[in-house]
Amino acid sequence: MNIAIIGTGYVGLVTGTCFAEVGHSVICVDCDEAKVKLLQGGGIPIFEPGLEEMVKKNVAEGRLNFTASTAEGVEKSDVIFIAVPTPPLEDGAVDLSYIERVARDIANAMTSYKVVVDKSTVPVKTGEKVAETIKRYCKADCEFDVISNPEFLREGFAVEDLMNPDRIVVGTTSEKPKAAMREIYEPFNAPIIFTDINSAELIKHAANSFLAMKISYINAVAAICEATGANVEEVATGIGMDERIGRRFLNASLGFGGSCFPKDLSAFIRISDDLGYDFGLLKKVQEINAEQMDRFLKKITDTLWILKDKTIGVLGLAFKQNTDDVRMSPAIEVCQRLLKEGATLRVHDPKAMEKAKELLPAEGVTYVDDMDSVAEGCDALVVATEWPEFKELNLAKTRDAMTAPLLFDGRNLFDPAEMEQLGFTYKSIGR
Ligand code: UGA
Repeated sequence: MNIAIIGTGYVGLVTGTCFAEVGHSVICVDCDEAKVKLLQGGGIPIFEPGLEEMVKKNVAEGRLNFTASTAEGVEKSDVIFIAVPTPPLEDGAVDLSYIERVARDIANAMTSYKVVVDKSTVPVKTGEKVAETIKRYCKADCEFDVISNPEFLREGFAVEDLMNPDRIVVGTTSEKPKAAMREIYEPFNAPIIFTDINSAELIKHAANSFLAMKISYINAVAAICEATGANVEEVATGIGMDERIGRRFLNASLGFGGSCFPKDLSAFIRISDDLGYDFGLLKKVQEINAEQMDRFLKKITDTLWILKDKTIGVLGLAFKQNTDDVRMSPAIEVCQRLLKEGATLRVHDPKAMEKAKELLPAEGVTYVDDMDSVAEGCDALVVATEWPEFKELNLAKTRDAMTAPLLFDGRNLFDPAEMEQLGFTYKSIGR
């Protein structure tokens, strides 16, 4: 199948690469010419495990190409995936101007039947608008179908998730695009669920909101655990073994972040409001998430009392493990709030230090390459991201390097009993 992917962000680049990997001919389009040049030369603008090798291999084998011209992408493909950003607006709504722009560009370039697939996360009924736009601007007056195919990959596991999907959701009731999607996804051996286009769009927002709700739920339970001396991990295991609940996404933390959950929750609440339904449940999910960060920072101030002129080590800057993405990262928020209180920081992240520099002030932050040296001279150490390598931290060296061995674990990476034995004052979440 000849496929164009418009937008080479996390979703577009990984999707295009994995489609090429299974044998399709893929042309990735991006309006950022510098990015296209980088990709053409074998460079990768993001860190994502396994991606670089896969891009290089498929470029070398001729199945994966990059261009800055939408017209070229449209001309060379039968199926066009839209994977451009849909960033949040001030009021929680979604900025759909990139989608609209791409719809016009596709319309202008189209000279024969195309399947146009929306893969970006969009509010329900966006597909209908895309179809109207293409119809309005297509001079050649050719036939086309607009369908929805939401993506469920997680950053940090994007290649793995894309190559082994739980399910493929396709929103269309027409036979031609159904056949095209069956052909594209056949090598992935996953069940395909066909729905109407509005349902497919809703599935994406409903799935992300549900996962965010699971995290806020366990974080609320963690607060009760702290008040009673119970252990949130044991509770999560106990409830998670019920197949109806499931253990995944029940890891208590300092709150969820990233470019998806916060944005998609706001968008879903806003869409529901516009449709006349007050989605109070999801508003509470947001509230619990904000409170979780406050409760975590309160633990630090309750213990250290005054933060001014204190040195605090922070392990982790990315919004989660395995990524260099710092957008809406809880770890960055921790840093910003500690700095605001007058603390100085010594920070480390295996991949996200460069991107963090764009968000954190230059003054008051020292970037430390070696995680075992972060704690030097620190009054406290904070674990803010769930990088598995932090479990290998040299705890004895860390303890001895600090003015007082005080560790705030926002990701429950260490065992409380072991930490106590090592002489740490150790505070984690819900334990
Ligand atoms: C999320 C969804 O998991 C994907 O299915 C979806 O495709 C993606 O959004 C998207 O819409 O593009 P992602 O944002 O990459 O993926 O990251 P997650 O793994 O879901 O983690 C989100 C946040 O929740 C992170 O800050 C993570 O640390 C936190 N989290 C996750 C917890 O605090 N506890 C958990 O149990 C799980």
